[in-house]
Formats: sequence, structure tokens, C-alpha cells
Amino acid sequence: MTTQRLAVRGLEHEFRAAGGAVPALARIDLTIEPGEFVTLAGPSGCGKSTLLRLLAGLLRPSTGTITLGDNPITGPGAERGVVFQRPALYPWLTVRDNVAVGLKLRGVGRDERRETADRHLATVGLTDAADRKPYELSGGMQQRAQIARVLAGDPDIVLMDEPFGALDALTRERLQAELLALWRRTGKTIVFITHSVDEAVYLGSRVLVMSPRPGRIVFDESARFLRDGQPVPTDEVRTLPEFTALAARVRDAISER
Ligand SMILES: Nc1ncnc2c1ncn2[C@@H]1O[C@H](COP(=O)(O)OP(=O)(O)OP(=O)(O)O)[C@@H](O)[C@H]1O
Ligand SMILES: [Mg+2]
Repeated sequence: MTTQRLAVRGLEHEFRAAGGAVPALARIDLTIEPGEFVTLAGPSGCGKSTLLRLLAGLLRPSTGTITLGDNPITGPGAERGVVFQRPALYPWLTVRDNVAVGLKLRGVGRDERRETADRHLATVGLTDAADRKPYELSGGMQQRAQIARVLAGDPDIVLMDEPFGALDALTRERLQAELLALWRRTGKTIVFITHSVDEAVYLGSRVLVMSPRPGRIVFDESARFLRDGQPVPTDEVRTLPEFTALAARVRDAISER
């Protein structure tokens, strides 16, 4: 794994809108080390998606820099996969071809594309939907297809904007477990936006909270739970007093004005 450090320095971002400038991000300094699972929470409209789009290279910062290793981020790159807040699928392609689209661009052969796409569709529970078109899927199913597409591309860095927000509770729990397993197995860097405090503390190795707009990072704590130097098994994590205490601090940080 060649993942590199993401470094955000003196970042500010302002949108130009009809009514004047909208300051979305105030001043952000943030270093994300390779292999971190960073969860990001904060009130609606505080600038979380804006920060993710900046990391993705889909927006250029008004002020400040974002670098990946030694290189400034100037646009999207194959080493960064993005799961958008709203599912973004090609409407004219089947679900399977949507998942395989990045592989096709890279010249991966037909059989391997199909095998890889079907494996990732199985991971997100969409095996039966492979031959359907996106409009035939529910919102949650489209979201899962988008996740499968990003994972099929095997990016070093996965940027996820409320990926599980539209899912039913059981599917959400299953995908949380799948994502944790994938992270442990691969050492990918993950940045994961969520409105769920429980999800932020459960998934993250580090939890960030942003202030209301213009967003700043107002909370930044490790969320690794160890016992005798070893990670506590995931099915026990939620019962730890440290888990409950961290969740309470995150909740306080989100509601502070
Ligand atoms: N393209 C744009 N033009 C103008 N203003 C924008 C644009 N995109 C976002 N904004 C504004 O920037 C602020 C931050 O938006 P952003 O989408 O980053 O919030 P968020 O934290 O992701 O919110 P939510 O939790 O609701 O998804 C909001 O006030 C929003 O209205
Ligand atoms: Mg958002």
C-alpha cells in the first residue's frame, strides 16, 4: 500500500452566491496519516461535504493548500475514491457496468471486470440487481451500488460522504462491519462523514467534529479502544465505558455553538 499523508494547511473556502460570498470553511489545519479511519461529524451546512470535495480535488480552495504526500491536490485522482452524499451513477449503464466503469477505463479485461464487479456487488448485498438500471433501484440500493463502484476501483484513500445515511438499520450494520473489515485488511485511509455519533465513534480510529458554518475543526480525538495493548473486538466496543464517554463528548462538541 502506497498511501500517502494528506495535509491540509490554512484552508479556507468561500462560495460566491447570488446574495454575496458564503464562507463555508473558516480555517482548517489537518493532517491525516496513511491508514487512519477518520470520521467527521458536525451540524448540517457546516461545510463537511465542502471539505470532502476539496480533498477529492473537485473544488479548489479559496485560500490554503491540500497536499497528498509531496504533491498539491489539483484535481481528482484514481488513488482517491469518492462516495457522494447523493448517489452518482450513469443512468444508461447497468448496475454491474456502473461498478466496473473505472476498471474498464484502466483497461481491465471483460471477465476480470465482471468478476470484480460481482464480488463488490455481493459485498453490498446487490447481487440480484447487477443487470438492472439505476432508476430501477431504491435510493439506498443506488447508494450501495455507488459504494461498490468506489471499492472496485481499489483506491488508497476512500472519501465517503454519509454513505450509509439512506440505509435501513440492518443493512447499515452489515456495511459498517464490511467497511471495518476492509479497512483492517487493506490499511486504506478512510475519511467518512456521518450524522450519527454512534457510527462516528464505532467506525473511526479518530473522530473530528466541525463547528457550524464557517466550519472549523473543534474536536479531534483518537477513537481506538485498546485492552492490554490489543484492539477490543468490535462486537464489544459499544459496551465499553470509554465508548459511551467519547460519544458524549462528541455529542457535546456538535451541539456547542
Ligand atoms: N456550490 C455552492 N454554492 C454556494 N454555496 C454552497 C455551495 N455548496 C455548498 N454551499 C454552502 O456552503 C455551506 C456548507 O455546505 P456543505 O454542503 O459543505 O455542508 P454539510 O456540512 O455537508 O451539510 P449536510 O450535513 O447538510 O450535508 C452551506 O451553507 C451551503 O449552503
Ligand atoms: Mg453534506
